[in-house]
Amino acid sequence: MQDRPQVDTLSEAEARAELADLAARLTAANSAYHQKDAPDLSDAEYDALKMRNAALEAAFPHLKRADSPSDQVGAAPADGFTKVAHAQRMLSLGNAFSPEDVQDFDDRIRKYLGLTADTPLAYTAEPKIDGLSLSLRYEDGVLVQAATRGDGQVGENVTANARTITDIPQNIDGAPDLLEVRGEVYMSHADFDALNLRQAEAGAKAFANPRNAAAGSLRQLDASITRARPLKFFAYAWGVLSKPLAEGQMAALERLAGFGFSTNPLTKLCQTPEDMLAHYAEIEQQRASLGYDIDGVVYKVDNLALQARLGFRSTTPRWAVAHKFPAELAWTRLEGIDIQVGRTGALSPVARLHPVTVGGVVVSNATLHNEDYIAGRDAKGGEIRGGKDIRVGDWVQVYRAGDVIPKIADLDLSKRPESTERFAFPQTCPECGSAAIREEGDAVRRCTGGLICPAQAVEKLKHFVARGAFDIEGLGAKQVEQFYRDGWIAEPGDIFTLKARYGRGLQQLKNREGWGEKSAENLFDAIEEKRRIGFARVLFSLGIRHVGEAASNLLARSYGDWASFSAAMDAAEEGSEAWETLLGIDGVGAVMARALTTAFAQEAERASIDRLTAHLEIIDAERPSASSPVAGKTVVFTGTLEKMTRAEAKARAESLGAKVSGSVSARTDILVAGPGAGSKAKKAAELEITVLDEDGWLALIEGA
Ligand code: IVH
Repeated sequence: MQDRPQVDTLSEAEARAELADLAARLTAANSAYHQKDAPDLSDAEYDALKMRNAALEAAFPHLKRADSPSDQVGAAPADGFTKVAHAQRMLSLGNAFSPEDVQDFDDRIRKYLGLTADTPLAYTAEPKIDGLSLSLRYEDGVLVQAATRGDGQVGENVTANARTITDIPQNIDGAPDLLEVRGEVYMSHADFDALNLRQAEAGAKAFANPRNAAAGSLRQLDASITRARPLKFFAYAWGVLSKPLAEGQMAALERLAGFGFSTNPLTKLCQTPEDMLAHYAEIEQQRASLGYDIDGVVYKVDNLALQARLGFRSTTPRWAVAHKFPAELAWTRLEGIDIQVGRTGALSPVARLHPVTVGGVVVSNATLHNEDYIAGRDAKGGEIRGGKDIRVGDWVQVYRAGDVIPKIADLDLSKRPESTERFAFPQTCPECGSAAIREEGDAVRRCTGGLICPAQAVEKLKHFVARGAFDIEGLGAKQVEQFYRDGWIAEPGDIFTLKARYGRGLQQLKNREGWGEKSAENLFDAIEEKRRIGFARVLFSLGIRHVGEAASNLLARSYGDWASFSAAMDAAEEGSEAWETLLGIDGVGAVMARALTTAFAQEAERASIDRLTAHLEIIDAERPSASSPVAGKTVVFTGTLEKMTRAEAKARAESLGAKVSGSVSARTDILVAGPGAGSKAKKAAELEITVLDEDGWLALIEGA
């Protein structure tokens, strides 16, 4: 990204801070996109953040966070639908943005498999459909279940809704006994336009784009609404199978077509990266006339046996990549800059734009990141956009790919009106007037008002009741704002005294606008239900900076119970034994540790936490258990491996929970020794460590 400094010029502290910022932004974006069907970042911006995160993690592997966005697909499923655990995870795709990236993809695969540059290696190339993925399970040829991706592990059961889609066969002949077909649900441009017309006539809200319309239509609790929405489906992949479909991707797609599925007609078998790029250009040319949205081209290794060997990274397959189309651009006038104050006090500038259509969607807001971005500087003080600062009144270039809140890429100085002024970024919080300060190494200016700042307090409360945190039914962002404004709740603990204070006879609550007896009663019940709650959720709900859902889980598993944890936080003064223990947790860095100890040491915040936990029964966290025969074991590979490259062996072992080390020591559990093994085999024999040959190792992990 042009507005961020080169990774290799960053200090550790800067990298750590940026990784934290990226994790927070990407988590929020995932939730906005997957759960609310209302994306708040453009695809291009999202991809750029993910790439930046990956680059930082590659340069500073030890700083990779427990809640690293690289390990997350999508977001946890929304409430209302029953949940379906996917028999095989539904994954995301890595991205390529340039011909070089595509060449790198081919190089990486050859290296991993140990193939020379001239070994033939075919790939399929097909459009990347901009919809939402769906997994269809057929037993004995009968559709029995349809599930959305959710977080990749657990999705939403949308079987009744999927049955209304005519592209999805209910019965198929000649299929394997067990067949999971995966593909994309989408809405054509014509159907999208007609739907929005109907929405307007009915006085309902228009959908921002076909993807949102498709997602909103599929995820209807009432399937008759889905039936009235013309959804389509392309099959492009599969999950669990009782019998392989074919030997190659292309042939497998032909089988799916034979079962009655629509497969994309622009799918082509390519022999070289040059062929793939030529087909990309062909698809890009046809993009505008396809009648449905696509946002790139997906390349997949055709040979399915090689796909199996290549396997997966944490959230993406090694054997496929999405080559994205460049983002769309438009010019408009910047009418104002607003400052929003977030949960952690961050002051975020938002551009208010004269509405402009970018790739079919009307845009009137864009993110401006931070004060340096507005000033035309990166975090190191270097120039971005040639040093041009952004001013209210400027003619600006808006940048988006498929979704709603975009960013400003550039501006045209020749169109700057006279008498504009540099934007003066506020030095005090616009909400509470407290000083807003910028700490060294932080790109963001923050309000120092803490709990006295109404914006922070409300955002904290909203976070507290959000999904993944307390998730109290009937108490969403809107209700929290109302209760806060009226002085009914000021901090999380107040929620648990709401009934005692205002529920008597339900008189007060039910007399309020929007509340009846039933809804008031339901709310109090929902609150009661959450008095007993898991440790990780409590921690996550506090909204402590750098402590996201994954980190909360990690900390909960490490400390087990709340009392031990809070005692440890009290004792964890920097440099103390408790501090070292905290830092010793794999996935906890100094930034997170400091954020935690600060939150617990800060008097007002600590008192507020204690007032909350006094109302709760906090359930202890479960300690992790080993699931594969090599989980938790330390493995060393030595000598020549004949059935796989070293990289492949290492990745497979790690995916099964083993730790791969380069040298034999007393801590080694297994040595896998191929022909030519030398000193390591000798040392292992001396230390009486289990030694396996390659076949022995494969037998051990088979089926794991
Ligand atoms: S293959 C193991 N093929 O893009 C990965 N995905 O960004 C299997 N998508 O989650 C996915 N068109 O929802 C594949 N032709 C295509 C696709 C496609 C759209 C979606 C899919 C996936 C997402 C990743």
